[in-house]
Parts: sequence; C-alpha cells; structure tokens
Amino acid sequence: MENNFDVIVIGGGPGGYVCAIRASQLGLKAACVESRGSLGGTCLNVGCIPSKSLLNLSENFHKAKKEFNLQGIEFNELKLNIDKMMSNKDKSVDVLTKGVEFLFKKNKVTYLKGKGVIFSKNDVVVYNNNSKQNYKAKNIVVATGSSVASVPGIEIDEKNIISSTGALTLSKVPKKMVVIGGGYIGLEMGSVWSRLGTEVIVVEYLDHITPGMDREVSKEFQKILIKQGIKFRLNSKVISVKNQKNSVLVEFTDNKNKKKEILEADKVLVAVGRKPYTEDLNLTKIGIKKDEKGRIVVNDKLQTSVNNIYAIGDVIKGPMLAHKAEEEGIAVAESLAGQAGHVNYDVIPGVIYTSPEVAYVGKTEEQLKSENTSYKIGKFPFLANSRAKVNNETDGFVKILADNKTDKVLGVHIIGPHCGDMIAEMALAMEFGASAEDIARTCHAHPTHTEAIKEAALAVDKRPIHF
Ligand code: NAI
Repeated sequence: MENNFDVIVIGGGPGGYVCAIRASQLGLKAACVESRGSLGGTCLNVGCIPSKSLLNLSENFHKAKKEFNLQGIEFNELKLNIDKMMSNKDKSVDVLTKGVEFLFKKNKVTYLKGKGVIFSKNDVVVYNNNSKQNYKAKNIVVATGSSVASVPGIEIDEKNIISSTGALTLSKVPKKMVVIGGGYIGLEMGSVWSRLGTEVIVVEYLDHITPGMDREVSKEFQKILIKQGIKFRLNSKVISVKNQKNSVLVEFTDNKNKKKEILEADKVLVAVGRKPYTEDLNLTKIGIKKDEKGRIVVNDKLQTSVNNIYAIGDVIKGPMLAHKAEEEGIAVAESLAGQAGHVNYDVIPGVIYTSPEVAYVGKTEEQLKSENTSYKIGKFPFLANSRAKVNNETDGFVKILADNKTDKVLGVHIIGPHCGDMIAEMALAMEFGASAEDIARTCHAHPTHTEAIKEAALAVDKRPIHF
C-alpha cells in the first residue's frame, strides 16, 4: 500500500507543494512529484525569489550611489561585488527550497523525486535517472507550471541571448542590454541591471508597457522608469536576433511605418511571456483537453476533462502568478477532502517589484468602461503623504475605483513605495465587499504610507484632507 495515494501532485512549485501540504493537513495521503532536484518550482528557484533578492540588493546599491550623498550619508568608496551579491541570492534560494522540504516532512507529504508521467487516470510513473517506479492515485493534480516563451526563430542560449533565468546569474554587469518585452520580467530584470550600471533599452510590441494594467498607472510607471534611465522603443516588433561573437543584433520594425531598425547590445533579455508546461505528461493520450493556447481546460472545480485529474497554476487559464496557483492548490485539496474549495478570481492582487513598486487588485478603468459600469475615482499622490515625503519617495499615487451608486470598491491601483505590501489591505477590503467609505472611516496609523489609501478613499467622495 506504500505506493497508493489519495492524491499525487505533479509539480512542486507554489501551486503543487501548497496543494500537497493542504491535502495532507486534511487527512489525505499525499505525494508530490518534482524533477528539478529542489522544491519550490520556478518561483523559488529561478523566478520570484532570486529576482526579489537582486531587486533588493541592486536598489540598495543604487541608493548608496545616487541618493545617500544628497541625504547626508557620505562615504569615499563604493564597490560592487557581484559574486557576493549572487551568492547572497543563492543562499536565500537554498534556504527557502530546503524549507519546503522540511514542510513536507512536517506535514507527512511524500516527496517523489523524478519526472512524473500519467499513464492512466489512476496511474503515475516516476522516472528518475534509469529507475522507474509505479504509483496509484485516487486523484492526480497537474501543477507543472510554465516555461519561457520566445520569439519565433530566436534561440535562447542563456549566454548572450538570455531569459529571466540567465538574467539572474550574470557574472558581470553588461554595458548594454536590450530587453524584448515590457512586461513583468522585462521591467523587473531591466531595473536590476540598469541600477547596477547597464544601459537598458526595452523594445515593446504594444504602444504601452505592462499590458492589462490600468493605463494611467502604466503611463506613470513608464515615466518614472524613463526618469531612472531606462529607454523604451514602443510599437516595435522584434523580428530577429543575431548572435555574433561578442555582441547581439536585435532587428525590429516600427509597427506604424514598418521601418526596420537594428540595436546592438552585449546581452539580450527575451521577456515576451511564458507558456504552460505540459510536455511529456501523456495528457492527450489519457483524454485531457487543452485550449488554443495550450492551457489545460478545467471547470470551476479545477477538474480537467478526466474528472479525478485536476490542474492548477500556470498550466490553466488566468494570471501566471504564484499566489494564484497557491489559492488553486488549496481549493483543490479542500474539494478532495469534501470541503467547498473556492478561488475568488476577482480579487487576485498583482505586484511588480520595481522601485517604486506597482500593485493592483480588481478592475482597471478600461475594464469598467468596456463593461459599461458607472464608477467614481479617488486619487491621492504620495507627494502629499508625510511618510513618503520624509523618506524622499514621492513618486506615484493611489487610485481607488468605486461603484458610482453603491460605493463598493471595484479596483485599486497603486504605484508608489511599499505598495506591494499595501495592496493586501485592499484585497482584504474587497474580499469583505468594502465600500470606499468603509476604508475612509478606518483609522490608519500616522505617519505611514497607508494613509495615502485612506486619503484616496476620502477622495472618492471628493473630501481628501491633505490634498
Ligand atoms: P508579460 O506577458 O508580462 O510581458 C511580455 C511582453 O512582451 C508584452 O508586453 C508583449 O506585448 C511583449 N512582446 C511579445 N512579443 C514581442 C515582440 N516580438 N517584440 C516586442 N515585444 C513583444 O511576460 P513576462 O514579462 O515574460 O512575464 C511572464 C509571466 O511571468 C507573466 O505572466 C507574469 O505574470 C509572471 N511574472 C510575474 C512577476 C511578478 O508577479 N512580480 C515577475 C515576473 C514574472
């Protein structure tokens, strides 16, 4: 019976490992298959966690170089030790991935090392080097995540033409980097290297950066990034990338006049999105349907077309975010244990961890317009927030969108200091169906950045105090 499980989760990323832990907590016999050699998936190993380490360290370096002197903190010599910076990042990753292994032991989740393949609706085979082991599962959860997408014809070699993975391990600060794609990865990794001294040029297909984001915030974000030294070529489609010995040529066309242009750089970061990773799982053979984008089709219980096989995270529709995958993992585990597993897709926050951060939850103004929803706007700039002012972090604003009739909060969009943490308050408010007035009447500590949220809520009713 050792090889029989109530649930086998394939993939040990934030969706998969959380699902396995929750299932075990609820009394199910759970196993999690992972082939990477360490748990935590893209997020912990080569994504969110190492990038946040470099974002934090490069921001400290940048501040020390450009700002401290103006603030009365003077020193004679500042040196960047990139090896130390990278090993600091690697240590954090190591501690956190091992932490997940510890959580598996604590929660009695069986960790199956190797590549999982689904042979039938109840059979999983795990391949590890030359060995092969069969397992039986009452239920299977596919949580295999996503892999880097590229532009047709462009081969990522992780040396000169890199993905986010290569951008996290450069051993030297490049002189010039072209970033293809002005989305999450392009702007976060572009910021890291720009702060460390690289000339960064972002080539983006659309006429704006960060597609899907509230347009007013996106415009402000671009302005701030330009001020920080990042250059942009919008409305530009990359058509080829040629790897020369010591440099790379990026060819792109202007969408409007179709003019071709070439940029030369020592590194090119390809950040044009990610695609669901569902290869070698045997899905088609066992009858699991995918949509036109290669995502596994699921119902509202996250069941695939084979009803005891579930799918969560980046392999299904929705934003490719670790916390969305975690919520889905928990929902599946709770459904399997007979509870009412549920994910509220209307309240999934998103954060870009640049400086300042950008954070949002709920609807954008563009979405409300297209749905013909009548709304009110309350805005408050960080320039008028005392804590932001004393910290010299005055870029950005809080924008609250509330229903015109009921005052219910429909969306919150923030660009400004620490807003990646502040957005949690807004997600909670929206989960409770808060009105803008509820937020405005909630006492916020002074002096904190969160007062900007209270003031924006007051501004919905046209009565901010400090602006
Ligand atoms: P993205 O979808 O955010 O942005 C890709 C950009 O590339 C788009 O703006 C697109 O218009 C542009 N593009 C596509 N083809 C192009 C071409 N030929 N020439 C020029 N531009 C082109 O994808 P990204 O940044 O690669 O991130 C992948 C996923 O990882 C995202 O879904 C995101 O949710 C997730 N992620 C989340 C982070 C966070 O939560 N902070 C951090 C990093 C990634």
